[in-house]
Amino acid sequence: VVCLLWPQLIEWDLQPTKRPLSCQKHYKNIIYAVPTFSNPSGRTMTLARRQQLTRLARKHDALVITDDVYDFLRWNSRSPPPPRLVDIDYMLDGGPISPFGNTVSNASFSKILGPGLRTGWAEATTRFIEGLSQCGSSVSGGAPSQFVASIIAETLQVGSLQSHIHNNLIPALQRRSRIALAAVREFLSPYGVTLESLSSANEKKAMVEGGYFLYLTLPTPLTARTVVSRAQGDGVVVASGDTFEVHGDEQSVPSTRGLRICFAWEDERLLAEGIRQLGEVVVQLLREHGAVDRLGKSPRACLSEF
Ligand SMILES: Cc1ncc(COP(=O)(O)O)c(C=O)c1O
Repeated sequence: VVCLLWPQLIEWDLQPTKRPLSCQKHYKNIIYAVPTFSNPSGRTMTLARRQQLTRLARKHDALVITDDVYDFLRWNSRSPPPPRLVDIDYMLDGGPISPFGNTVSNASFSKILGPGLRTGWAEATTRFIEGLSQCGSSVSGGAPSQFVASIIAETLQVGSLQSHIHNNLIPALQRRSRIALAAVREFLSPYGVTLESLSSANEKKAMVEGGYFLYLTLPTPLTARTVVSRAQGDGVVVASGDTFEVHGDEQSVPSTRGLRICFAWEDERLLAEGIRQLGEVVVQLLREHGAVDRLGKSPRACLSEF
């Protein structure tokens, strides 16, 4: 609302009535990122990139909001992911250049305790958090969803959330991701569908290391939208890559052939079946497009591509 009204206020020579409190700051720019086990790509930003981004934010008076909701869900890696940007800002080149810093980490209990809880937490410098706590929604009543927050606080105090992540969530995601990866190899890879995270330097090894998703690229001439709507008719729900594009900046990461599979929610027994049905949709559509050359490969011959 402020952004929309701002030009009008200048025209009318009026002053905005809301000024930042002394413990609040207006940044000139906002950068949003999901640096670890991203949605939808599953990718993780390197340490060097995180440092570059922090320096860039400092230079341009930007606040980097990192949506660190998947950080605890590392199910396939021996080494921890790089430090969060908020930790880097705390340490890099002698620490934050202002008491507010240039990064805030946002996280959510929806991904580690139960979907739909809509309760999370933020981490930043003390001054920033002090300012954040003075926002209307926090001042008026303490938290947007106090009842849920008080139950979650109890799970933290008794340690049941920590053990739930360790004993239930990570092993379940490990099993599900293995099932989903194997099914992608068997039912999709033979028809030219590639797994985004596998086409990096180490091609033989699955590079997906955490989070909820596998991100696939469909062969030309298929588009994700067509595959998604055809699959939905069969009861298989996957997401088209362009759902995640930034409006007005669609060309920066073209994703019309990107397809996101979420393996976190579906019953383990149905995961492989869903991906098998997706394979059938891909085959049908390739046939309809006359791209029969892609159908000649036998699944076994193509396994080596992974
Ligand atoms: C990166 C990211 N941030 C936030 C959310 C939403 O979290 P919440 O349910 O707490 O609003 C999602 C859910 O898909 C997500 O992928």
